Amino acid sequence: MSKKRVLTGVTTTGIPHLGNYVGAIRPAIRAAQNEQTESFLFLADYHGIIKCHDPAMIHESTQAVAATWLACGLNPERTTFYRQSDIPEIMELNWILTCITAKGLMNRAHAYKAAVQENLDKGQEDQDHQIEMGLYSYPILMSADILMFKANEVPVGRDQIQHVEMARDIAGRFNHRFKEVFTLPEVKIDENVELLVGLDGRKMSKSYGNTIPLWESDKKTQKSVNKIITNLKEPGEPKQPDESPLFEIYKAFATPQETADFTQMLAEGLAWGEAKKLLAAKINAELAEPRERYAALTANPAQIEEILQAGAAKARKEARVLLDQVRDAVGIRALG
Ligand code: ADP
Ligand code: TRP
Repeated sequence: MSKKRVLTGVTTTGIPHLGNYVGAIRPAIRAAQNEQTESFLFLADYHGIIKCHDPAMIHESTQAVAATWLACGLNPERTTFYRQSDIPEIMELNWILTCITAKGLMNRAHAYKAAVQENLDKGQEDQDHQIEMGLYSYPILMSADILMFKANEVPVGRDQIQHVEMARDIAGRFNHRFKEVFTLPEVKIDENVELLVGLDGRKMSKSYGNTIPLWESDKKTQKSVNKIITNLKEPGEPKQPDESPLFEIYKAFATPQETADFTQMLAEGLAWGEAKKLLAAKINAELAEPRERYAALTANPAQIEEILQAGAAKARKEARVLLDQVRDAVGIRALG
């Protein structure tokens, strides 16, 4: 039986933080170790330039995201790891898919609708004011990413479910109109995905400025951890886990037994300051080796580039075969 193919992309618009690690990177790397699956992971830089117009950030983020995944244990021998923009076949497929995608389908895409709504709310006469075609066609490019590699399963966050459904729709339309070329992908939402809280108790997110960066020294991590909000209870006073976000973060880095012990210590009056030391020590212990690897990789970006190029070569071989079938199906082929 052929292996199940799992594919996902990561946009290159930020520097990874502890929330990305707990909610996306750590589980994906564990899942990629499953012998029954074949995994594809790529840096979605062409998606990145839709939302981010800062070239330095796109470039820096591409390097940081690639180094992060490698440092956290992604094995490029097992996972096909590449950069979207290194696979020109994806852009060719993007156009062919654009030619068969209903405009009405794109009108219904959440991201586009939200941008239109924002214009209407502001009293803008033109509902498409400042909306670019990249945003509008975003789901078609994502469909090309997915369909190019015959992905069976696409693990994504809830906000991306609609895009995977659109990829299925577009694939079905092509198969029906021309020829059965595409595999219909299924979305995979991990119900148990851990949502990490930030320093202020809201979801940890770069948009809220409440993150703990992944790639800092032990000392700086302690400093970030010290900023987690707590109440004014004194050392010796009993404390409950829900009185500070620090408990939830601790839990993400501890075994169930360690978490139970921590709960007990808080109940017995552990000082917040001591609790923060224990938390920083846990984070630093888990990240010690990845941090060494991250430092080595970022000191040698050419090595990261080499890994990405090797991944792209592997991916392009497959992409070429599929693209030739697609071109042939629509009537683009050699004469004679
Ligand atoms: P941000 O909210 O900082 O902009 P992104 O939206 O770029 O993060 O998320 C990238 C990935 O990391 C997604 O798969 C998302 O589900 C995951 N992620 C982001 N923040 C968290 C969090 N606080 N807890 C768990 N997972 C998260
Ligand atoms: N749009 C996805 C996000 O913002 C990233 C992405 C691009 C992706 N292409 C993909 C995810 C293909 C899964 C499959 O998170």
